[in-house]
Amino acid sequence: MKNLFRKFLYAGIVILFSGILSCKHEIPEIPDVPVPVAGGEQTCSADTVYFQNKVLPLLNSSCAMSGCHDAVTRKEGINLSTYERIMATGGIVPGNPSGSKLYKAIIKTGSERMPPPPAAAFTAAQKDIIYKWILQGAKNNACNDCDTTAFTYNASIVPIINTYCKGCHNPTSLGGGIDLSTYAGVQTIAGNGKLLGSITHASGYIAMPQGGSMLSDCRITQIKKWINAGALNN
Ligand code: HEC
Repeated sequence: MKNLFRKFLYAGIVILFSGILSCKHEIPEIPDVPVPVAGGEQTCSADTVYFQNKVLPLLNSSCAMSGCHDAVTRKEGINLSTYERIMATGGIVPGNPSGSKLYKAIIKTGSERMPPPPAAAFTAAQKDIIYKWILQGAKNNACNDCDTTAFTYNASIVPIINTYCKGCHNPTSLGGGIDLSTYAGVQTIAGNGKLLGSITHASGYIAMPQGGSMLSDCRITQIKKWINAGALNN
């Protein structure tokens, strides 16, 4: 009888603990208190790293993908999908890159490095973007770096693809089987209508960038004009 009671007691403890463990993942996040974007209209200064222009697209396409640090998965509690979440969960110490968890993770080597292998490590230029942004105070800032009259492939389209798309569309991370690291790959989706369909969130297409905000009207116009002019490798 005593043994039976013990068994029930142990079973109860196991159930209680597994309940606690499984609930851990369902704790809702504290709602975001929106931090307004500073600037946006003024032309970009070469010395400043702007969060909205450079940092957010990089983190969105290299870290905040499904299964990693997006708003749904939040691996290790880290959600890199918005400014507010990055500041709340990325261990950012404004002014101190070397003391910031996010920066430390991207400069690590081996299996601890983020994004983890087999994904490519951030390039020196990408690490520098994160470093300078934190050093400059980790602000939610933006500048106007887009001009609808410029739409050649190399000067205008490649930077858009590299900033907003390539993190999920390259040989080691082939979202939808699509590689946008080469002209041929971009040309294919320009030609079959999927590029414009996905970035304008047209019905019948999967909206891109996945999980991120829509490209600005100016960038969509540049891509449209490039496609209409023949999607050349110019
Ligand atoms: C966070 C990762 C991520 C980013 C950033 C991203 N994509 Fe994707 N993309 C995917 C995944 C994953 C799929 C496959 C989705 C599926 O099949 O459900 C996909 C699918 C697509 C498709 C096929 C859509 C369709 O309707 O068949 C196109 C085209 C595309 N992406 C273009 C882009 C472009 C252009 C950008 C940048 C502006 C971009 N993607 C940014 C992950 C991403």
